[in-house]
Amino acid sequence: MDKLLIQGGVPLSGDVAISGAKNAALPILCACLLTSEPLQLTNVPHLNDIATMLRLIGQMGVEVTMDGNDGLILDSRGLNNPLAPYEMVKTMRASILVLGALVARCGEARVSLPGGCAIGARPVDQHIKGLQAMGAEVGVEHGYVHAKASRLKGARIVTDMVTVTGTENLMMAAVLADGETVIENAAREPEVVDLANCLTAMGAHIVGAGTDLIVIQGVERLHGATHAIMPDRIETGTYLCAAAATGGSVRLTQTSASYLDAVIDKLREAGCEIACTPNEIALKAPARLKAVSVRTEPYPAFPTDMQAQFMAINSVADGTALIRETIFENRFMHAVELIRLGANIKLDGNNAVVTGVPRLDGATVMATDLRASASLVIAGLIAQGETLIERIYHLDRGYERIEEKLARLGASVRRVR
Ligand code: EPU
Repeated sequence: MDKLLIQGGVPLSGDVAISGAKNAALPILCACLLTSEPLQLTNVPHLNDIATMLRLIGQMGVEVTMDGNDGLILDSRGLNNPLAPYEMVKTMRASILVLGALVARCGEARVSLPGGCAIGARPVDQHIKGLQAMGAEVGVEHGYVHAKASRLKGARIVTDMVTVTGTENLMMAAVLADGETVIENAAREPEVVDLANCLTAMGAHIVGAGTDLIVIQGVERLHGATHAIMPDRIETGTYLCAAAATGGSVRLTQTSASYLDAVIDKLREAGCEIACTPNEIALKAPARLKAVSVRTEPYPAFPTDMQAQFMAINSVADGTALIRETIFENRFMHAVELIRLGANIKLDGNNAVVTGVPRLDGATVMATDLRASASLVIAGLIAQGETLIERIYHLDRGYERIEEKLARLGASVRRVR
């Protein structure tokens, strides 16, 4: 199994290009299931989660053609197997995103119920409740969600909590439903807006994406379209944190600061100078950061997907930070690994108190999930000596060519077996 060996202590410096967003690309790949015409995508990141989703829709009968370096053409004329088997769903919870589109297009879907994962229980009851409100018969049999509806009907849906993939699934179901669907308490994440933009290009009628009230007028059919995936705001934030933590100075290109206000505010509060142009972000870090407290909340507040990275940067900042995780119940697995590198972190339920120490020391640590592994990379870049990160397949799920990108910024990072 691959590991990542980092020789820490080098301030990051230089330019790096940000890839397309994993969490926008995943639902948009599923959008191809809604039409028999080709969907052409660009800026698709090369990631393990994307490969898993392509295998999943491929076995359903979707023809996948690579188009240049980061393009794909998806043709689901031959869609004939509306099934998401356990073997695939267990490796990637986002597989549940096929459910809404399959019921809408095929009238039926069988999708393995995702289990819990390293960051929490993560039920999908809201996805099911929404489909039931739209007239689907939904049962859980032998670990599979089995949903059936000859044609979904528009409905008014209020989700119990803000759910990103729940909102995306229901939006995909509603675009082909009969009549109007209203999703209240909808997720406002930029990835929801990117999906809505793609669906609109395919002929869907959607108003309000990016707000908590989305109104969708169902249409008879969707057509093919071309769409460029938005830049990855979490990859962007992760490189900003890496530069901040190492006292570096970097310029990130092919990205946008407009989806990152909460993260950029916190980095400024920590003492970084940040300058933004429409497609670039430049960051210059101080010699030592100030501790910054964060509380995770749905967009536009501070994202849970940046919590682990901020724990890493606070571990060597001046002062004490309080980190509160309110989205997932078990998203502090990185804390114990950071402690192995010398961090001073006290955990109390969903609160972590991080008191900055003068330095971290390299050690062998274990990645437990995608963003936890990103925080360990940042810690490894700060630490004195060598850090060896085990189980970096978690990292490969969401960070494209990370060792190459970090090497461009001057880091000493090597993949080893
Ligand atoms: N929830 C329920 N029932 C549901 C749906 C959600 O109880 O039916 C709960 C969850 O257990 C959680 C909260 O609601 O406590 C919010 O979960 P949400 O549904 O928003 O998460 P998700 O859609 O499964 C997406 C991202 C995650 C990101 C979260 C929160 C994708 C593919 N995944 O997950 O990304 O952390 O939103 O922003 O978009 C990552 O990239 O590392 C990652 C985990």
